[in-house]
Amino acid sequence: MSNPTARILGIETSCDETAASVVSDGRVIQSNVVASQVDLHAQYGGVFPELASREHVKAIYPIVEQALEQAHLNIHDIDALAVTQGPGLAGSLVVGMNMAKGLALATGKPLIGVNHMEGHIYSAWLYQANATPHQPPRFPLLALLVSGGHSELVLMTDHLVYERLGATLDDAAGEAFDKVARLLDLSYPGGPSIQKASQTGSSSSFTFPRAMMEGTWDFSFSGVKTAVLRTVEALQEEGRALPVEDLAASFQDAVVDVLVEKTLMAAETHQVREIVVAGGVSANKRLREKILSESSRPVHIPPLFLCTDNAAMIAGAGYFHYIREDFSPLNIDVLPTWPLS
Ligand code: KG4
Ligand code: ZN
Repeated sequence: MSNPTARILGIETSCDETAASVVSDGRVIQSNVVASQVDLHAQYGGVFPELASREHVKAIYPIVEQALEQAHLNIHDIDALAVTQGPGLAGSLVVGMNMAKGLALATGKPLIGVNHMEGHIYSAWLYQANATPHQPPRFPLLALLVSGGHSELVLMTDHLVYERLGATLDDAAGEAFDKVARLLDLSYPGGPSIQKASQTGSSSSFTFPRAMMEGTWDFSFSGVKTAVLRTVEALQEEGRALPVEDLAASFQDAVVDVLVEKTLMAAETHQVREIVVAGGVSANKRLREKILSESSRPVHIPPLFLCTDNAAMIAGAGYFHYIREDFSPLNIDVLPTWPLS
């Protein structure tokens, strides 16, 4: 039975953000608290899993408390708990899962395990409590999911119905940004650094490969990453200074071209009504501009604060499970590798 104003407390700890949020009716953000560990991991050039888990252990309780406080709610005012069950780092997922289980046990509220990538899709439904609601995405829709660990094209014919059309065969888009940033001596996380460097670079300076993977909806980004590496090595051998901005802009365009072209082709082939672009890489300015200008269909891209990991998206997706009474038992496990379909 659905509650007309169902309030879900979402908890997300799949990678290096400890996050909690209260969302009502799957759309309205009452609070959204994110503690990022990015400064801690920057010194290693990537996420250090054991450190990530331990930081989650320290942060989880105050973050959940803050999410409730900012929503002016008590844990007993919540209708259900939604938690990222996977995919992600096992040791990190366990921290959020145990917090959610503890709260569910103590309060008797339902517990809902949410797929992290499903959460990214549902970020397109969210808006701030003080903002004007936008039209939510309509089905059938195609979701381009681009994050640090995933690059996927997912077809949705209805709420919670997913068909994964294709995925990366090697590096995820965000992973390619992070690895190329390291090659160019740019700071972690690589996506924002590459975007910044690109602003003063020319994307036509270098022609990097665009792997279209014809006949499939899959992606491959290891070729473009290797092409950047070879170019960097050749320039260094010649004793030339690296044109970092030009390399960054040329790389960014190569990745964005493939993402946009394949998404628009898949949207056409499957005759979807609308497109959703989500996940950390959807924060990319070039990607946002290009897909918005080239698509003949409505494109939903969440605001920047909802592109990267957050718990509002987990609470949002959790709501759609909640109203279908799709609850998880208290003995559920985390699922570090959990394909969406
Ligand atoms: O969704 P997310 O926060 O975490 C995962 O679920 O992986 O995505 C993080 C990824 C990182 O690889 C980061 O470099 C990338 O998103 N990213 C970007 C931008 N902002 C974050 N990539 C390109 N351009 C950006 N502006
Ligand atoms: Zn993510």
